[in-house]
Amino acid sequence: MSTPSPALPGGTWTLGDLTVTRFGYGAMQLAGPWVMGPPADHDGALAVLRAAVELGITHVDTSGAYGPHVTNQLIREALHPYPDTLHVATKVGATRDPQGGWPTARRPEEIRRQVQENLTDLGLEVLDLVALRLGDAEGPRAGSLAEAFGTLVELQQQGLVRHLGVSNATAEQVAEARAIAPIVCVQNMYNLAHRQDDDLVDELATDGIAYVPFFPLGGFSPLQSDALSSVADRAGVTPMSVALAWLLQRSPNVLLIPGTSSVAHLRENAAGAALRLSADDLAELDGIGRLPVR
Ligand SMILES: NC(=O)c1ccc[n+]([C@@H]2O[C@H](COP(=O)([O-])OP(=O)(O)OC[C@H]3O[C@@H](n4cnc5c(N)ncnc54)[C@H](OP(=O)(O)O)[C@@H]3O)[C@@H](O)[C@H]2O)c1
Repeated sequence: MSTPSPALPGGTWTLGDLTVTRFGYGAMQLAGPWVMGPPADHDGALAVLRAAVELGITHVDTSGAYGPHVTNQLIREALHPYPDTLHVATKVGATRDPQGGWPTARRPEEIRRQVQENLTDLGLEVLDLVALRLGDAEGPRAGSLAEAFGTLVELQQQGLVRHLGVSNATAEQVAEARAIAPIVCVQNMYNLAHRQDDDLVDELATDGIAYVPFFPLGGFSPLQSDALSSVADRAGVTPMSVALAWLLQRSPNVLLIPGTSSVAHLRENAAGAALRLSADDLAELDGIGRLPVR
């Protein structure tokens, strides 16, 4: 085992009563192609998870829909019994069909079943953090979350879930959830090029709620822009490093969960996110995805 690094970039954040490193890890890429089935390299996937913990990462993001079941079972195989410091965040609200689609599954009995499956697959008696995944594969969709979120609140009251969040949510759904019960995080798509949640990031920061951007590196379509390349070239680093450093500098409530199936990329990202971007860099990067003023 290598020695844990003393400090990952970004320091820590508190999700309710749980302290996590702001530099975390997203496990979705460990499943097979298009997040279906087992990975081509089973031992390689276990190695990535173990390397994350060795680096000092204490926040791993997953979902029973990844595989389905695959990433949760890999996390259990690689890391159980979990160190006390490690917190696994999962999501419910979607399932998988044989074609690899992501149909919604938000009826009360479906939410209860998914929580039980996550507990079983992860080998836990209590889930640290469960986010209700809303919308669909195309993005957030308007509509009340009350019934599904209320079911999660009941499971929290029964002691099966410690903290709650929402994902792929509109600002109205975030507000609706917060009116029902406290949430500790919102997990939405956000990165240098997709900044539709700029106002929400700031609002949540004011209220001490984490914002967890998914696709921080662009997901299935890597981020590409002239400004990003020029800032990266100037600093002599990769565009991925700049994209992650930008998110860490964006707001203290932003938690990173970049995905990778490669130990080398994991280490490269953890080191690269420590980059300090200058005011000039930030101004140049700001032009990539900021929405025009209406
Ligand atoms: N709530 C939701 O609806 C939702 C949706 C999507 C994702 N998520 C969560 O968000 C996490 C992050 O999203 P993501 O993993 O899909 O996208 P991402 O972090 O934006 O990008 C991951 C992609 O970047 C590549 N990559 C990472 N580091 C690299 C490096 N240093 N050099 C070159 N390529 C690199 C990976 O390939 P390699 O494997 O080759 O490194 C992978 O293809 C997921 O793991 C998941 O936990 C949530």
